[in-house]
Amino acid sequence: MKKLISFFLCLLPLAVWSQVNFAEHVAPIIFDHCTKCHRDGEIAPVPLTTYEEVAASASIIEYVTGIRYMPPWTPDHTYSTFRDENFLTDAEIATIADWVAAGAPQGDPALTPPLPVFPEGSQVGTPDLVLSMSEAFEHQGNNQDMYQVFVLPTGLTQDTDIAAIEVRPGNKNICHHAILGVDITGQAAALDAASTEYGYTQFGGFGFNPTDNFFSAWVPGSNPLVFPPTLGKKLFANSDVLVQMHYGPTAITQTDQSSVNIFFADQPIQRYVQTATINPQNLDELFVIMPGQVKTFHGTLTVPVDVSLIDVAPHGHLICSSYEVYAVSANGQDTINIIKIPEWDFNWQGLFAYPSLMHIPAGYTIHCFGTYDNTADNPTNPNDPPQIMSWGESTTEEMYITFLQYVLYQPGDENISLPTANAEQMMVYPKEQLFPCYPNPAYSEINIGFHLKSPRMLSLEITDMQGRVLESVFTKLSFGMGWHKQSADLSDWPAGQYLYRLHGDGFDESRPFVIQR
Ligand code: HEC
Repeated sequence: MKKLISFFLCLLPLAVWSQVNFAEHVAPIIFDHCTKCHRDGEIAPVPLTTYEEVAASASIIEYVTGIRYMPPWTPDHTYSTFRDENFLTDAEIATIADWVAAGAPQGDPALTPPLPVFPEGSQVGTPDLVLSMSEAFEHQGNNQDMYQVFVLPTGLTQDTDIAAIEVRPGNKNICHHAILGVDITGQAAALDAASTEYGYTQFGGFGFNPTDNFFSAWVPGSNPLVFPPTLGKKLFANSDVLVQMHYGPTAITQTDQSSVNIFFADQPIQRYVQTATINPQNLDELFVIMPGQVKTFHGTLTVPVDVSLIDVAPHGHLICSSYEVYAVSANGQDTINIIKIPEWDFNWQGLFAYPSLMHIPAGYTIHCFGTYDNTADNPTNPNDPPQIMSWGESTTEEMYITFLQYVLYQPGDENISLPTANAEQMMVYPKEQLFPCYPNPAYSEINIGFHLKSPRMLSLEITDMQGRVLESVFTKLSFGMGWHKQSADLSDWPAGQYLYRLHGDGFDESRPFVIQR
């Protein structure tokens, strides 16, 4: 008996030890959150696709996840929610730490989940127009960052409505992020012609104020922005698309030839996507940060009409340290959080899109706080000793600008979700469908789900079994494509058999349900 107990005792540490292992616990976290950048041919330095690769970096992985440096996700996810969010929960961080403490065991290799499938080629479909860099750009192997603007003529002979813009980085080992603009004046082409190499070097923007200084943006791992049907942008005749590419440091000289896929709108655009900015003109002081100063600028913009916000992109340079943007109603009673970036990181700026359109009513004031640390203690301060900082596009100048893409609001916009451009997800419910309600039989409330292939104005009614309308739940509300759910309160209804009917714009379906008392 004693022997048996000591046998179990010596097994005990083994049991605890084998609790957290790679195959069952750590691989799902790494494959979900890291591998899209950490694999061959992508921007991140080390591949994390197998047990051996992950185990070899176990302690540094514990470190970079523990301090939330990886995965890179700068917005505070408890403040507002974005499409394609990528952050680890406290429990996931703890799992990685426990695994490293246990000696990074593999577990049963057969239990390792498969690697996710990363689509090659366009994630949206077949582009209508591909704008490619006309030659390869050589990024020197001098371990320096490089910011180069490329001018891509569209060749369009007429103004064209577009539904999606997709940046296709040519060399993912060096392409760190891109900001896109549009020029119809030829100024960018002139800057390119004046430069000896292909494109022209420009750190913070395009070197002048182009026709559209925020056509799109891209960072590794981000999905292309596909506007919901009937929303979109206009690309002007004879325009040039400008791509400001940030190349990350590399020890060996490498080339890049990136391209931009443009998808024309296949339905007439009813509402054009517009860009508002909050910039130094919205401040009541000069945008100047003195040496040694930590300064917060507070700009405001009152929204004159109801708008639906699609995405937000704050922009600053190297001494910017945080950003916060929110909207407040005129009576001060309601606040809508837009974005909070507690630790600004120039390397991980991006365009942050909401999962569905965000309504900001007329009369609300948008407040935008940008903080800048111009002290010698700031390790990212480009000047040593610190210098006076003011507006400009170079590394040693600063910017305070937040781009907000929006359309004019229509009732029901809150239901319009932004397609994730992931073909697999879009294929899950290819049919237009009214789903069975739940619960059925119902007592106090029913939930009615439906799926749309294109946006529609719909009405929902509860009828008797002969189709006579007993109650109209809503009338002519607009819904975007995708999944929706609506509820109806039935608490004072008598028991019996009823129908719910969803109809509008050529769609008309009814389904029976029962109320029990
Ligand atoms: C959006 C792309 C992206 C994602 C997602 C991402 N990384 Fe990274 N990672 C990078 C880049 C780029 C670098 C190198 C530059 C840097 O250190 O900022 C890096 C650096 C690292 C390093 C340091 C490597 C070294 O030797 O310097 C580690 C470790 C790391 N990542 C782990 C992870 C882990 C673990 C995850 C998931 C929890 C993750 N990363 C998710 C892009 C990414």
